[in-house]
Amino acid sequence: MKLFIDTADVKEIREAAAMGLLDGVTTNPSLVAATGRDMRSVLQEICSIVDGPVSGEVLATTYKEIMDEAHDLAAIAPNIVVKVPLIEDGLRAVKTLTGEGIKTNVTLCFSPIQAVLAAKAGATYISPFVGRLDDVGHEGMELVAQIVEAYANYGYKTEVLVASVRSPLHVLETIRIGAHVATLPFKVIHQLIKHPLTDVGLARFLADAAKIPAAKKS
Ligand code: G3P
Repeated sequence: MKLFIDTADVKEIREAAAMGLLDGVTTNPSLVAATGRDMRSVLQEICSIVDGPVSGEVLATTYKEIMDEAHDLAAIAPNIVVKVPLIEDGLRAVKTLTGEGIKTNVTLCFSPIQAVLAAKAGATYISPFVGRLDDVGHEGMELVAQIVEAYANYGYKTEVLVASVRSPLHVLETIRIGAHVATLPFKVIHQLIKHPLTDVGLARFLADAAKIPAAKKS
């Protein structure tokens, strides 16, 4: 499974990259707005830190404007993936962009049928938003399982990128279902590493190690 970080905060991205576990980055307009910086400079800096795919989202909602913005974003760096909303003009743009060899991430997916349409358009990634479904009383991870099943039925190559992840349980389910990617907030990356029994065990080993007599010098 590939691990992406879901943030536009370059400090978090540098720290996650230093852990050696980071395969890519996803951003969205809300995350970029939180940095107080402009979209282009943030994406440029992220691409200078990470070699893997970096998703930058278009703000337009009509075909021609989406295409113009997509070309501007794709020109930032070779590892930019253009993130496009799952709307009619968005899918049309994904089809054209795929034909041009530009990678796409279709975002705001809330149904398996939407996911199949994105795959038919040639999307590189589909982003089901699991946390936002959980928020309204639907099983977000059930959607991921349905998409993985649907893609396997037809042999679609689109990668399932689990987004709107809120906890390690979402990551565990991602692994069990076999989705290709999970994109995680910085906080969840840390939560994955921590286990109280690891901390207790390490403290005990270190306490016992202090009792080990030093070797005699020969
Ligand atoms: O990047 C899209 C997605 O991960 C957003 O997550 O927590 O705002 O629902 P969230």
